[in-house]
Amino acid sequence: MSAIEGAFCRSSPWRAFARRRMLPWALDGFDLHGDVLEIGAGSGAMAQGVARTLPDARLTVTDLDEAMVAAAAARLHRHPGVRVERADVTALPYPGGSFDVVTAYLMLHHVGDWRDSLSESARVLRPGGVFIGYDLTDTPLARAVHRLEGSAHRIIAAAELREALAVAGFTDIAVDTSVREHLMRFRAFKRAV
Ligand SMILES: C[S@@+](CC[C@H](N)C(=O)[O-])C[C@H]1O[C@@H](n2cnc3c(N)ncnc32)[C@H](O)[C@@H]1O
Repeated sequence: MSAIEGAFCRSSPWRAFARRRMLPWALDGFDLHGDVLEIGAGSGAMAQGVARTLPDARLTVTDLDEAMVAAAAARLHRHPGVRVERADVTALPYPGGSFDVVTAYLMLHHVGDWRDSLSESARVLRPGGVFIGYDLTDTPLARAVHRLEGSAHRIIAAAELREALAVAGFTDIAVDTSVREHLMRFRAFKRAV
């Protein structure tokens, strides 16, 4: 991620907007429960919203970038049920079947091997567990903004995500686009055995 985007993700206007507007939109009424893993959590804005409003969720908040992990740890240290750890989503350091929910907010497009994020999320979920979140979609605007600010990215089309979720072993897949097709929120279940 570029310095510009890193600073944007850590800024207080974005954190407030993400927590108040994007989090309820992305979850769309889904009640986070049990053991919840957030991947690519940045500075912990969404996790802070979850920790405040859904105290029953046991949160593990992760990111690849040490600076983001430090920012999230500082933000979340008052919430005793929250673990903050460095983790690469393409090789998650958790045994299979560790979580009830995996959340991914605005992060898949930063992972070059984004399909590995899906298979790793499926692996660490318990049967019947949920992978939920949102991302940008592949529009000319999203591509232009990322080219200008210079961060590594691979913007994903909604149909491509739907197909890759199925390949990763998810079922009951919903990918809905919104805001004139600029955003997509997704929800998919790991097959119950
Ligand atoms: C645009 S930020 C989104 C942060 C946060 N989810 C939010 O909504 O504010 C994308 C995040 O994905 C993280 N990231 C990129 N590649 C990753 C990987 N392979 N594993 C884990 N996190 C990654 C980046 O470090 C960055 O914090």
